[in-house]
Amino acid sequence: MRTRIKAAWLKAEAGAQVELCGWVKSKRVSKHCGFVMLNDGSTQKDLQVVVDLDSKAFAKMERISTGAALRCQGVWQESPGKGQDFEVLCESMEVLGEAPVTYPLQKKGHSLEFLREIGHIRGRTNTFGAVFRIRNQLSCLVHEFFQSRGFIWAHTPIVTASDCEGAGEMFQVTTLDLQDPPRLDKGGVDFKQDFFGKPAFLTVSGQLNGEALALSMGDIYTFGPTFRAENSNTTRHLAEFWMVEPEMAFADLKDDAKLAESFLRFVFQNILERCPEEFAFLAKFYPECDPSGLLKIAETSFQWLSYTDAMKELTSAGRSFQFAPEWGHDLQTEHEKFLTEEVCKGPVIVTDYPKGIKAFYMRENDDEKTVAAMDVLVPRIGEIIGGSQREDRLDRLEARMKELSLPTEGMSWYLDLRRYGGCPHAGFGLGFERLVQYCTGMANIRDVIPFPRVPQGILF
Ligand code: 4AD
Ligand code: MG
Repeated sequence: MRTRIKAAWLKAEAGAQVELCGWVKSKRVSKHCGFVMLNDGSTQKDLQVVVDLDSKAFAKMERISTGAALRCQGVWQESPGKGQDFEVLCESMEVLGEAPVTYPLQKKGHSLEFLREIGHIRGRTNTFGAVFRIRNQLSCLVHEFFQSRGFIWAHTPIVTASDCEGAGEMFQVTTLDLQDPPRLDKGGVDFKQDFFGKPAFLTVSGQLNGEALALSMGDIYTFGPTFRAENSNTTRHLAEFWMVEPEMAFADLKDDAKLAESFLRFVFQNILERCPEEFAFLAKFYPECDPSGLLKIAETSFQWLSYTDAMKELTSAGRSFQFAPEWGHDLQTEHEKFLTEEVCKGPVIVTDYPKGIKAFYMRENDDEKTVAAMDVLVPRIGEIIGGSQREDRLDRLEARMKELSLPTEGMSWYLDLRRYGGCPHAGFGLGFERLVQYCTGMANIRDVIPFPRVPQGILF
């Protein structure tokens, strides 16, 4: 039975037997022996296997090249070489899979752009191994945070009939023949004949279903994939991304913002000690990966700023932005970055946005101009979390939906939540890839999800 290299490192002791499998990072042969650097993806730390010239395994060195898969059996010994305390002296070796010279990963560094084109293999590099292991630990921390606070993990549907954000950025799901769909007499497609008997889409957010579950179970969270057909070719947008969406009954905007702050600080605090070698590697090669900065942020309270005050900061900054800031307009990435990087010099929670730029479900404030919304902005990324207190007053919600000409058909269940035991409730959505980006320092969101989906891009 093989031992994973991560586990094997913990038990390294001269004289102990060990069996390992992995892929060859590099190989070299000297006068007396061969050296193979092996990694199986479980750890940042490659393991050196030494093959003596007079051992039976040495004959196999010829078949080995970077990328080959091996099974090695041998014994731990102290390493005289630089870079490691221990190595494994090989006693027997099996070449499980050779890798010919066409293997795309060679020892020299490759650009992240090139690696994106070989997404099926990039997980074998130090960089992507580190990012994907950190991503795994971040997922565990999400669950640990909410579970330790009594939130129930709820699974909301991926196929839906409602556009939660109302932005019309949904991918349609259909079993109709697109070449020859059934037609209505008046023209147009007859969706009654579609699989669900009406148009269906991939969800942009689990929130609306999350509200129903919060209004039955108290505090819940979802953690699943969401989809947006927005044609944004940027370093922070994906067409398929993962979102963490807590929803709390009997909670207002303040509770929501406090939850968001404690959640992020908990994650920043704990991720470093989960993946020390991964962070050490990334910090060495990616200047934007800053473990000590992350820890500092984890220890400091976030600043809070109303949208109106944020606008004052922006308009009095004496800056020429590409988009002039103006009350009533959404914050652009450049504005978000200015607020978090220059005004607050750290994460900032912006609250009470104009209602015209926010979704229909947000609770209207007494000024009738703003809604109880909050976004958390962080340096380098801008918006990482978006949330709000929900409109729990039936008449106001109905009026708002009418005002925005939103279809009420199919939404009566959502209105029922206000009809039957409605109560103040609030929640938020965290873009999970933006969190991974923020922690790892990766500049492009395509490099923090194993197989990114973007406009005009669906490889692998
Ligand atoms: O601000 P958004 O659109 O909020 C919602 O979807 C709410 N329904 C959440 C809630 O209250 N339950 O999206 C939430 C977060 C954003 O702050 C951002 O981090 C991320 O999701 N996000 C994206 N991440 C990657 N690619 C995209 N195209 C994203 N769009 C939003
Ligand atoms: Mg948002």
